[in-house]
Amino acid sequence: MDVDVFDPRVFARGVPHEELRHLRDTAPVSWQDEHEVGVWPAGPGFWAVTRHADVRHVLRTPGDFSSHLGATQIRDPDPADLPFIRRMVLNMDPPEQVRLRTLVTGAFTRRRLERFAGDVARRARDALAAAVAAGRCDLPADVTDDLPLQNLCDLLGVPHADRALLKAWTDRVIGYQDPEHARVVTDAGGRPVNPRSPAQLADMFGYADELAAHKRRHPADDVLTALVQAEVDGERLTGPELQMFFFLLVVAGNDTVRSALPGAVLTLLAHPAEHARLRADPGLLPTAVEELLRLHPPVLTFRRTATRDLELGGARIAAGDKVVVYHCSANADERAFADPGRCDLARTPNDHLSFGQGPHLCLGAAFARLQMRAFLTAFLALPAPEPDGAPRRLTSNFINGITHLPLRWGKPGRAAT
Ligand code: HEM
Repeated sequence: MDVDVFDPRVFARGVPHEELRHLRDTAPVSWQDEHEVGVWPAGPGFWAVTRHADVRHVLRTPGDFSSHLGATQIRDPDPADLPFIRRMVLNMDPPEQVRLRTLVTGAFTRRRLERFAGDVARRARDALAAAVAAGRCDLPADVTDDLPLQNLCDLLGVPHADRALLKAWTDRVIGYQDPEHARVVTDAGGRPVNPRSPAQLADMFGYADELAAHKRRHPADDVLTALVQAEVDGERLTGPELQMFFFLLVVAGNDTVRSALPGAVLTLLAHPAEHARLRADPGLLPTAVEELLRLHPPVLTFRRTATRDLELGGARIAAGDKVVVYHCSANADERAFADPGRCDLARTPNDHLSFGQGPHLCLGAAFARLQMRAFLTAFLALPAPEPDGAPRRLTSNFINGITHLPLRWGKPGRAAT
């Protein structure tokens, strides 16, 4: 079988489960050709890690698999941009990463998250009720693209009126492989510029600086205020560290939930019996959220770089090689989950890797779960929709995005209830 799990266009047709299973069975750590895609030039290639145990191992062993050396995206950053990109906690290794992470963890207190729970639930109810009243909607465009943005604005302390900016920055960074979202900028030589380079993000950093200055003058109960006030070992965050945190939180806190919500709906529609089971027993919600995240992991892959020559899953990896873990394959690994293709909303235990593992384990997982529970509670309280056309997926080998999901509501009780 000829397997290409690099090409972002492959994922636009859905996670290539057959190909990934073939790799797990025959070449669990396999070399992938990083060929040219559209305007994007070829890269050196990478190792694709597809089994649950190996993905877990890579993520828990930062000494061998570094987030710092080549950062965490498949596409290599411009070497000139590396020092800048490495200022983000996501692109650090312990112990530096631990210093910065400790600082943000303090800003994500349970009390702060719980304070927003009421607004998160109300927003989901209102947006879905409006869609049902209209009789049809395109779920991402009409409902789920905006909910995480509004929730994130509250958490970070960004005025809601500015959320279109946050969306535009996210689309620029995440959607660059997608024909609908891409806005390719070229350099003087006509080569496309990586959207993560500082020059491409100057407007966002200017905004972050202004917001930080505002929070210093007008402290509030939000994450940005906590970040400008935070101290580790008697030191405040530097300007660039604050900018990078803002960048990370905007993208990580938005696009992932934006994928998780329609992903959960799509999964429920594909499994009517489980959908009906959840409607009959909302007490299943906590395990359902985990199973929906397992079956639709918002993050498809993350990259590391080998720090030394080593062996993994039968492959001989050389120092400096790119190593890419496939969360979407680990979550479907027959070695880790009984009958992984089955949707079982009561599945326990459920050791999915959608939030990662090890030192970089998602910092926003509690907030993401809170938003998913609120959204699904509102969704289940309304009549069940029917598909109203084919969904469309983001062209990306990083985010499992759903860009269009047309739904319609018939008479109450007509669809799966
Ligand atoms: C369903 C939603 C989400 C998913 C699936 C998700 C997934 C992930 C994954 C896989 C990582 C690990 C990255 C790595 O291994 O290099 C991560 C890290 C991170 N996530 Fe999330 N995330 C979600 C929501 C959020 C939210 C809502 C926020 C913030 C408001 C957030 C903030 C972060 C941060 C700051 C990190 C970096 C942690 C570090 O490097 O130490 N995430 N996320």
